[in-house]
Amino acid sequence: MDAFVFQNPTKLIFGKGQNEALAEEVRQFGENVLLVYGGGSIKKNGLYNQVIKSLNESGVTITELAGVEPNPRLSTVYKGIDLCREKQIDLILAVGGGSVIDASKAIAVGAKLEGDIWKVIQKEMTASDALPLGTVLTLAATGSEMNSGSVITNWEEKEKVGWSTPHAFPKFSILDPQNTVTVPRDQTVYGMVDIMSHVIEAYFHKVENTPLQDRIMESILLTVMETAPKLLDDLENEKYRETILYCGTMALNGITQMGLKGDWATHNIEHAVSAVYDIPHAGGLAILFPNWMRHTLKERIPRHVQLATRVLGVEPTGKTDEEIALEGIEKLSAFWTSLGAPNRLADYNIDQSEINRMADLASYRGPFGNFKPLTKDDVVAILTASL
Ligand code: NZQ
Ligand code: ZN
Repeated sequence: MDAFVFQNPTKLIFGKGQNEALAEEVRQFGENVLLVYGGGSIKKNGLYNQVIKSLNESGVTITELAGVEPNPRLSTVYKGIDLCREKQIDLILAVGGGSVIDASKAIAVGAKLEGDIWKVIQKEMTASDALPLGTVLTLAATGSEMNSGSVITNWEEKEKVGWSTPHAFPKFSILDPQNTVTVPRDQTVYGMVDIMSHVIEAYFHKVENTPLQDRIMESILLTVMETAPKLLDDLENEKYRETILYCGTMALNGITQMGLKGDWATHNIEHAVSAVYDIPHAGGLAILFPNWMRHTLKERIPRHVQLATRVLGVEPTGKTDEEIALEGIEKLSAFWTSLGAPNRLADYNIDQSEINRMADLASYRGPFGNFKPLTKDDVVAILTASL
């Protein structure tokens, strides 16, 4: 494996009843809190009232930024930065899914920046500080609650860009499975596809001797695959919600990628698709991943064979490695489809008309992806196969 340094400073506060920890956590960061949330799900399920009660208990002054979009937009980040400066905010509290948390990370960094946060997101400037950020996660999917990444959409420029800085790690994240029981069926499916995709991005690497990492990743995949159908039959089951919530954090908090570099090309292509069509992130992944796997099949076939036989239930006897790999890809795609995820871009009414533009968006910084560096032509081929 590669030599590595690992540091994850986020305090994870996990489990049923942990919402109660909020007042005490918030109290440690000062007087003025910016409460950031999305389109209103927290008002419908009662979490908003609980959070306000906790904030009142801790005696802070609350400023609100509501309406963060799924696929959060730069324009909303700018609003948040202005509020932080105007109200002298000491702590940003994100209550929501990955979109709310990602927007809050950009606000936290932008509020301390002399310059435009978009330049940091585009890697033209480096951040050196951020306001403290705390989160109350309501949707198991992105892992943003315990990582330093964020994805922001500049809708005017049709760009959706992933970025990260160590300053963006949340100081604390509260993960109470009760907060996720109201996640609707489609978002629950997307969340589980996203979690599996994060593991698969890491699984396709070129580093030798990663037996423990491989087993950790396989465990996460098997746990999601075992739990997913049960959860979809019983959406309010807190035990299944708890399992998936834990999987989501473990899939992208850095642990799976100790000593190896995952691929991440499929995420980059999906961000280009979402930038143009504003589709749900994991809906795009469910369509693109099997096609990326087919496109890069020959790169390191033993990785495919291992995934197919250890995780996807492919019986290897009497088959060539390529046949095993292809059957694994079919099984993965069929599993996602069985959950209700899309498997063609046409499911979102996407045709070939914008393929060139999406391929440009994905590849304008040059070849990308660590397992197999992709060029614009590769992206066109993967998108065309996904139509
Ligand atoms: O906006 P509200 O009203 O809260 O509703 C949301 C939203 O409509 C709803 N929701 C969330 N929790 C709920 C709930 N509805 C009922 N009950 C609850 N408890 O779900 C919808 C989707 O929310 P969103 O936050 O957009 O979903 P997700 O967590 O999947 O985040 C997606 C974003 O994260 C980025 C994606 O690209 C996308 O922009 N990613 C961030 C990553 C990271 N920071 O590390 C990595 C990922 O790969 C991903 O790219
Ligand atoms: Zn993702």
